[in-house]
Amino acid sequence: MGFPQVRPRRTRATAAWRQLVRETHLLSDALIYPLFVVPGRGVRRPVESMPGICQLSVDEAVKEAQAVQAARVRTVLLFAAPARKDAQASDALDPQGLAAQAIRALKAACPELMLWADVCLCGATDHGHCGHVTPGGTIDNDSSLATLAQVALNYARAGADAVAPSDMMDGRVGALRALLDREGHANTPLIAYAAKYASAFYGPFREAAESAPAFGDRRSYQLDPANAREALREVLLDVEEGADLVMVKPAGPYLDIIRQVRDAVRVPVVAYQVSGEYSLIKAAAARGWIEERAAVLETLTGIRRAGADLIISYFAPEAARWLAA
Ligand code: PBG
Repeated sequence: MGFPQVRPRRTRATAAWRQLVRETHLLSDALIYPLFVVPGRGVRRPVESMPGICQLSVDEAVKEAQAVQAARVRTVLLFAAPARKDAQASDALDPQGLAAQAIRALKAACPELMLWADVCLCGATDHGHCGHVTPGGTIDNDSSLATLAQVALNYARAGADAVAPSDMMDGRVGALRALLDREGHANTPLIAYAAKYASAFYGPFREAAESAPAFGDRRSYQLDPANAREALREVLLDVEEGADLVMVKPAGPYLDIIRQVRDAVRVPVVAYQVSGEYSLIKAAAARGWIEERAAVLETLTGIRRAGADLIISYFAPEAARWLAA
């Protein structure tokens, strides 16, 4: 049977029908909000390339976390931009370092808010790379693993509900899991940035996290945007090494990867709508070129429809408020 008996528009005719036959739903439970912590007190420094996002001192991050919770977002992802930056990423390894302090303060003030800690070296190193740099200027995989694992342990000890390695070194999920298990943190989940692409859309984030590489780029460790099979290989390796959740990042330009990953694994799939994806919408909306609310909800719905169970987004609290309204 075909037209005119068949008319797909029948179930699109009213809001009630559209709501009834809707296939994809957004829930604020599934949104995760990134926080950028910097040293000091009473600091709320706007990130110029990300309107609405601020670098926050620990006390201000606590206030932000409370506001986010009031908007019904249940999870935050913490990034720290310490003042002390050196080749060893000492601040990230230090129980009194900025990230560890922030984790303790946030968990004390908002025990119910889930706190994921991003684990990487780029924010705490002077060279801004995600692993150790050799004298020849390459990023050394194997020596980075021990440091990354120690950073994860430091954050787990401080009280992080989960640790999320974003460095893309080979073997890091297994290395983190082994150390956490050995040190009494067998129950701390590991969220692997499994398919993380070498993307132009991270630009604004690097201002917020003060993590731009001082030389070169990240293409020797992050994925080539042209590759899909390689992304699946990375994801399967991370699951094998013990990842509890796997992430695809960025989200919008990689919806096909999200779908393939969702179909390939049984763990939850997280998609990261990154800084550049946020800034593009903000910039166009500020000029009146796009309707912000509709555009944001459309992108988030598209990411969910592609197969993401959870979405990390700078729009999380705003979107949660819209969803509740
Ligand atoms: C650090 C890290 C990056 C992002 C998350 N963790 C940047 C990068 O790899 O350069 C990007 C997040 C965003 O753009 O919103 N390893």
